[in-house]
Amino acid sequence: MSAEVIWGLATSHVPSIGAAMDRGKTEDPNWKGLFDGYRPAREWLAEHRPDVAIVIYNDHANGIDLDIVPTFGIGTADRYTVADEGFGKRPVPDVIGDPDLSLHLLETLVDDGFDLTVFQELDVDHGFTVPLSVWTPDPGDAWPCPVIPLLVNVIQYPQPTAKRCYALGQAIGRALKSYPKDITVGILGTGGMSHQLAGARAGMINPEFDAMFMAAIESDPAKLAALSREELIREAGSEGIEMIMWLIMRGAMNERVRKVHSHYFVPASNTAAGLALFDNRAS
Ligand code: DHB
Ligand code: FE
Repeated sequence: MSAEVIWGLATSHVPSIGAAMDRGKTEDPNWKGLFDGYRPAREWLAEHRPDVAIVIYNDHANGIDLDIVPTFGIGTADRYTVADEGFGKRPVPDVIGDPDLSLHLLETLVDDGFDLTVFQELDVDHGFTVPLSVWTPDPGDAWPCPVIPLLVNVIQYPQPTAKRCYALGQAIGRALKSYPKDITVGILGTGGMSHQLAGARAGMINPEFDAMFMAAIESDPAKLAALSREELIREAGSEGIEMIMWLIMRGAMNERVRKVHSHYFVPASNTAAGLALFDNRAS
């Protein structure tokens, strides 16, 4: 018996993507190109609903105060409330968790050398809800399945290295294989692509780096795992380092995956937005 990762979805989590959906602006000229590019992935995902999903994301000082910045954390609750980020809560469902799988991951990962901070209570912000909306634009009363938040510090120095993130993903892959129930899992890596929100380089976008990252996340993640924190920030921007979370997703998947669909769009707000969907079932 085991928990089998059936797919991995990497996607930007720009808050305005959620706002565009909530306000019915997805057909506006500024947004249509982004949302049209999501369609093939959404159609495939609608036909491949997992029993549980894991969302690798970062909080942006909405659910957790900046006084406390865990490097890695996991939610163990049976329910997570959508955060109010200052404009009221997004009109999307709260999130049902899976405490059994959370506790299995926690115990197994601690035994494997990853000392996760435990969140028994957590409000989830755009880093978490926007990827769920990219996956499921019309959730109705509930998201397609229970979801577990796995948190990563990407906002305050020193962020974990890309290498450590890839290794955590591989440890998650091992932990899932030892789960004593037969279930299917979807795993989401969120953030990116290149962007910087403040400072002299605000608005910087690096399409060459993004294209390299998009190709290597599929076929050569070890190359990305070798990038230093400073290289990531220099090439992708101070917030583009969020892409280390794609490596956690990728580490939990098989060495070989099949790309179902990818999409790259500039600009979403003032960032480069990317999506990549991989089928993890042995072909
Ligand atoms: C913005 C915020 C984010 O967390 C992000 O990843 C990209 C963009 C923003 O506020 O525009
Ligand atoms: Fe972000």
